[in-house]
Amino acid sequence: MNDTPAAPKSVPRIPADQLHEYVRAIWEQAGSSPREAQLVADHLVTASLTGHDSHGVGMIPRYVASLREHELKLNAHASVVKDVGAVLTLDGGKGFGQVVAYEAMEQGIERARKLGVCAVALRNAHHIGRIGHWAEQCAKAGFVSFHFVNVAGDPLVAPFGGADRRIGTNPFCAAFPREGKAPLVLDFATSAVAYGKTRVAYNQGKPVPPGALIDHEGKPTVDPKVMMEPPFGALMPVGGQAGGHKGFGLAAMCEIFGGALSGGYTTHEDTLQKTSAIVNCMLSVIIDPAAFDAPDAQAEADAFVEWVKASPLAAGAERIYAPGEPERATRAQREANGVPVDPETWRQIREAALAAGLSLERTDSWAARLK
Ligand SMILES: NC(=O)c1ccc[n+]([C@@H]2O[C@H](COP(=O)([O-])OP(=O)(O)OC[C@H]3O[C@@H](n4cnc5c(N)ncnc54)[C@H](O)[C@@H]3O)[C@@H](O)[C@H]2O)c1
Repeated sequence: MNDTPAAPKSVPRIPADQLHEYVRAIWEQAGSSPREAQLVADHLVTASLTGHDSHGVGMIPRYVASLREHELKLNAHASVVKDVGAVLTLDGGKGFGQVVAYEAMEQGIERARKLGVCAVALRNAHHIGRIGHWAEQCAKAGFVSFHFVNVAGDPLVAPFGGADRRIGTNPFCAAFPREGKAPLVLDFATSAVAYGKTRVAYNQGKPVPPGALIDHEGKPTVDPKVMMEPPFGALMPVGGQAGGHKGFGLAAMCEIFGGALSGGYTTHEDTLQKTSAIVNCMLSVIIDPAAFDAPDAQAEADAFVEWVKASPLAAGAERIYAPGEPERATRAQREANGVPVDPETWRQIREAALAAGLSLERTDSWAARLK
């Protein structure tokens, strides 16, 4: 993920503020309110800055396709369907995940401030992107949070012991805010590797690491073709051949907590054809750390992080990272040097901008500015 010294020189880099302005312009042109366009740009550019290109500005073409298929509703807001104090259930109404998840976190934070804790279930949201973004929103306000997310009706991952795709790449995320320091943020897909990484390997003609994929017969393979061409294989859950029962278990709980408990839906025969868009459901538990009897929690967390970082480095390792540190390192580097956007992704974004209604003249004047 870190691209500091190794980034190929040929990949153009775009200053983050200009990229942000361009993303905002695309969505305002498509019909989003200025606030919506701002929230979408904040999210996508931050995902790109933190190195998660699979969830960054490269998602724009997919979002524009969802809009044209009427599977993404502009200017929709999270609506409260049930409110019992410390438990809130919200419906995203197929609105921009970048808006409805933001609103869900706002409401959950406000409630946790009053009650010490709030469990917020959000269903029926269009793609909510990089989940760390939502944990960071909670951490910024001083709150601990954990998030269970399903990708409803969109299977790519095999259950442990199974031979075909049955589950989404269901991300899990947890964050701990730290006084005067950046929060600890753990945020990952429960598949052994992200789907986007198999696409990159396929395009580059490279194998994926062993233990990440099975073919259509359930046999282990390192050939990413099985994710791109029929007969399709599947991703393994986190832990692969050896520890995949743990990744599968976590993915299953994301499916149930995110998809079922929110009143949304899980992945099974009846939900496979529901939508062409990426629909996420998320259960977030937001906690005020001050509600515990733990005056030393910050010092204890600091001592632990220091302790693990003092481990002698294993062969080949350059350093030990705390959760969230790799993203911060990449962000600092990309804020200084620009966000790398490869020519093919840039071509797709430009096409999507035109499809969203941005005039050729405006798009090309942006393209010239962004070079
Ligand atoms: N919305 C969706 O439907 C959806 C689905 C799947 C994934 N996602 C998102 O995709 C993104 C990428 O997921 P991923 O599984 O590829 O992430 P990943 O494999 O890069 O893992 C990221 C996590 O591991 C930590 N980490 C990475 N390298 C580390 C190291 N060397 N030492 C210690 N910690 C380290 C990071 O700080 C981060 O918490 C996430 O933001 C996730 O939320 C979203």
